[in-house]
Amino acid sequence: MNMFLNISVDRFLHMPYIDYYLTWQVVCIKHPVLDFVFPYSTIWQRAHELSTLKGYSGYGAEQGENQLRASIASTYYANVGIEEDEIFVSDGAKSDISRFQVLFGSNVTMAVQDPSYPAYVDSSVIMGQTGQFQKDVEKYGNIAYMRCTPENEFFPDLSTVPRTDIIFFCSPNNPTGSAASREQLTKLVQFAKDNGSILIYDSAYAMYICDDSPKSIFEIPGAKEVAIEVSSFSKYAGFTGVRLGWTAIPKALLYSDGFPVAKDFNRIVCTSFNGASNIAQADGLACLSPDGFKGMMDVVGYYKENTAIIMETFKSLGYKVYGGKNAPYVWVHFPGRSSWEVFSEILEKTHVVTTPGSGFGPGGEGFVRVSAFGHRENVVEACRRFKELYK
Ligand SMILES: Cc1ncc(COP(=O)(O)O)c(C=O)c1O
Repeated sequence: MNMFLNISVDRFLHMPYIDYYLTWQVVCIKHPVLDFVFPYSTIWQRAHELSTLKGYSGYGAEQGENQLRASIASTYYANVGIEEDEIFVSDGAKSDISRFQVLFGSNVTMAVQDPSYPAYVDSSVIMGQTGQFQKDVEKYGNIAYMRCTPENEFFPDLSTVPRTDIIFFCSPNNPTGSAASREQLTKLVQFAKDNGSILIYDSAYAMYICDDSPKSIFEIPGAKEVAIEVSSFSKYAGFTGVRLGWTAIPKALLYSDGFPVAKDFNRIVCTSFNGASNIAQADGLACLSPDGFKGMMDVVGYYKENTAIIMETFKSLGYKVYGGKNAPYVWVHFPGRSSWEVFSEILEKTHVVTTPGSGFGPGGEGFVRVSAFGHRENVVEACRRFKELYK
């Protein structure tokens, strides 16, 4: 069973205890997305236009509207030379992660950070790339799990990683919240180049980076020959329900026979996806206007303040915490304890939902991920309860 489904079941079983959701509805007086991004939204206008003869539009370009592709390229990739025709607009990063699996098929091998966002491994399982699940090590066969722990500063020891066709890498990472440095990413790009691997780089949290860690893999020289970058409006503009993301595939990325990877991806997009909703695309464009972009930065800033409150809470209780600085996630270490046990303890005793680290891979055992995506009042209340529980 999928980890998030498991958590829902757990929530349901503990329903009598749950008041986090009641608190959510009753106490919140401010919503960062509504306050900061919504004023610049054009979603109503576009939806209304669609109901008029003049404004109605049917199928659009499968790769996304040119204006939006150009705006993504100039906003996020101006300094690295990714052009608008190298951007494919999507209905979110998760959907594109599965499209990559269709792109590469079932006969490829893959490596993944351990722990990592579950969609990489799960889509690989669905595609039939993996062997059986090995219960003793909590791993699927035929996947190279690249261990990322505090001991290696959450960057894998590449000398121990076998060659694979595909490498999934997410920075800042969900769940550990750590962002890879320029030096580390330079090593990763060289590793992919040496092995003839394709690097799928997930930058869904890049706008949370506040130090000099690269925000795009294409900041690393040579990355255009080995990498694809996938990203999303979900964590910047609250588009988790609106659904909008993109993938950047440089023209310089070629298979070993010289065929461009982007051409194959274009075929997948045209065959199994008819383009993102035109309403969502209009709103994405509004987010990339100067005011909209500032709104997204304010949303990011709001969640980062939440993160600081959560970090401080666990630190004051004597726990080692990681992440937080460049990401909206705090990775809290409970040495020697099962992460599901800690998750249940927190759920039952404080009625707050966290996420057990082992759900992100065996390397997450002993950790719990605390998310900063909440209203300030709820985060403060949750932290008060954590302090009560672990004082
Ligand atoms: C690393 C990472 N990539 C992608 C996604 C999904 O993004 P989207 O909402 O665009 O599908 C998430 C969502 O949690 C994520 O954590």
